[in-house]
Amino acid sequence: MALAEQAKRVADEFGFGPDAVNKAVKEFIREMDEGLLQEGTELSQIPTYVTAVPNGTEKGLYMAVDLGGTNFRVCSIQLHGNTTFSLTQNKVAIPKELMVAKTSQELFSFLAKQIETFLKTHHEEHYTGFLRRRNTIGSTQEEEIFNLGFTFSFPVNQIGINKGLLMRWTKGFDIADAVGKDVCALLQTEIDALGLPVRVAALVNDTVGTLMARSYTSPGKTGTLLGAIFGTGTNGAYVEKLDKVTKLTKSKNSGDYDKSTGEMIVNTEWGSFDNSLRTLPNTPYDKELDEKSVNPGIQMFEKRVSGMFLGEILRLAIVGLLKDPTFPLFRDENSAQNDVHSTTQIHDNSPLYKQWGLDTSFLSICAGDTSPGHRMIRQTLDKDYGVSAVSAEDAEAVRAIAAAVGRRAARLAAVAIAGIVINTGRLDSAKGTATTEQKEGINPPRGDVELSEDDVIDIGVDGSLVEFYPNFEDHIREALREIESIGEKGEKRIRIGIAKDGSGVGAALIALVAGKLGLSVSPKPGIIWPETRVHIAWAA
Ligand code: BGC
Repeated sequence: MALAEQAKRVADEFGFGPDAVNKAVKEFIREMDEGLLQEGTELSQIPTYVTAVPNGTEKGLYMAVDLGGTNFRVCSIQLHGNTTFSLTQNKVAIPKELMVAKTSQELFSFLAKQIETFLKTHHEEHYTGFLRRRNTIGSTQEEEIFNLGFTFSFPVNQIGINKGLLMRWTKGFDIADAVGKDVCALLQTEIDALGLPVRVAALVNDTVGTLMARSYTSPGKTGTLLGAIFGTGTNGAYVEKLDKVTKLTKSKNSGDYDKSTGEMIVNTEWGSFDNSLRTLPNTPYDKELDEKSVNPGIQMFEKRVSGMFLGEILRLAIVGLLKDPTFPLFRDENSAQNDVHSTTQIHDNSPLYKQWGLDTSFLSICAGDTSPGHRMIRQTLDKDYGVSAVSAEDAEAVRAIAAAVGRRAARLAAVAIAGIVINTGRLDSAKGTATTEQKEGINPPRGDVELSEDDVIDIGVDGSLVEFYPNFEDHIREALREIESIGEKGEKRIRIGIAKDGSGVGAALIALVAGKLGLSVSPKPGIIWPETRVHIAWAA
C-alpha cells in the first residue's frame, strides 16, 4: 500500500463524525445537569459565587498572578477611572521539577519570589517606601497593601471569594500535599514569609477571568455567555440560572451570595467530561497516553483536546508507525524525492522517541504548511526532531495524521460549546446575561455586528490552540452546524472572540471589588458589580 493511503488509514482512526458529535453533546448536557445537582460528578460544575458580569469605574493599582499550565504571570493593573487601564506584566516558565515538587511549599515559595521580583522591578518606590515605614514606624497603612487576584487554573472547590480547596491537579502537575488545601492560604503564607505588601483578595479560575474580560470588550448588547480556554489545558465557565444550581441553593453549608441577578457563573471543569468514555473517541494512542500520564482515567476530554496532549498523541501515532516495518514512513523508498538526495535518518536521540517529545506547536506548523513539498514541515522535522532528509511524501503523511488529530480536537471542543449553548436555552430566547447595566439603565456604545444584537450568543476564548492552530475555529464551526439543535442558523448566532490574556485582567478586577468590599478581611462570597466598560491598554 502506498504511504499516502496508509497515512489516510491512520488519520481515519481520528475520525469523529456527525453522529458521534451529536451523541457526545447529549451526554455533555446530561453531565451538566447532573453536576448542578450533586458533588462528585464527572463535570464538577463548581459555583464561583460570582453572580454578574463585572465592571469597574474605580481608580487604583491592583495586582494579579496567574498560575496556568506552563507559565506563571505576575501583573499590575492601573485603573485610570475612565474605563481604561494599563497593564504591566512579567512571565516566567514554571520549572518542570516544581510541577512535581515534593511539597507544595516549594512551588508556592517560588511564586511568592516572582511577586517580590516583580514589585522590586516595577513598583520599587511603593515597595521600598512600604519597607521603610514598616522598619521605622513599625506599622503600615491599609492603602499600602496591594489586593491581589489569584488566577489558579486547576479544579478548586471554591468556598469563598478568596478561599478554595484544591480538588486535584491537572496538566502534568502532581504535588500530593496540596490536594485538599486552601491554595490562597498556601500563597499568602509564602508572601508573608517574604514580608510583601500583598494580600490575596480573590481566587479565580482562568475561564472565569476570560468570561469577565470578554464581557467588557464584547461588542454585543447581551452579556457574554461562556469563557473558554483551549490552551495547555481546556475548560469553560458559563452563566447559569441560579435556580438550576441546586447543589448550592439547597445546601445548608453554602456561603452567602447575591441572589438579585438570578444567575451565577459556574466553572464546568469540562476537562473531565465523560471520564467514563461513554461517548469520547478512544484510539490506541489515546489509551497509551492516558496509561502513561500522571493522572490515568481523569481529564479524559482534556487529553483529547488541549495543547498539552495533542503533540503526544501525534508522537505516539508516528512512533507506532515507525515500529511497523511494512509502513514506509521515513524510509529510503521515499528518499529520492527529498531535497538533499541522501537517505532519510532518524537520530537516536530524536525527541520523537521521548514521552512529550513532540510539541503541539508542530501540529500548527503542519496545519499551516500547505506549500507543495511541505518545506516547513520537513525543515522542522530535521531541525527540531532529528529526522534528516525527509521526503515530500513523508511530510504529507505526517501532515495528514496531524491534521486529523487537530480536527478531532476542534470537533470535541464544539461538543462542549454546543452543550452549554443548548442547555442554557440561549437558542430559544433572545435574553442575555444579567449585568447591572439593565438595572442602572446605562447603555454603553457597542461595536457594529451583522446579526441583530439580541440574537448574538457571545463566547470569549483564550489559549494557544485557538490563538495559533490554523482554522481551529473553522473546524469548531463545521461541527456546530452538524449538531441537530444548532444547525446553520444557530451556528451563525454564535460569536467567538479572543479575550487575550483576559484571565489576568479578570482576576485583578475581582480583587478590586473584593478588596473594596473588605471581602478579603472577612471572606464572604457573592459579588455584584456596577456596570461600565473597560478597555484594555497593554503596557510593555
Ligand atoms: C484545569 C482548569 C483550567 C484549564 C485551562 C484544566 O486542566 O482543570 O481549571 O481552567 O485547565 O487552563
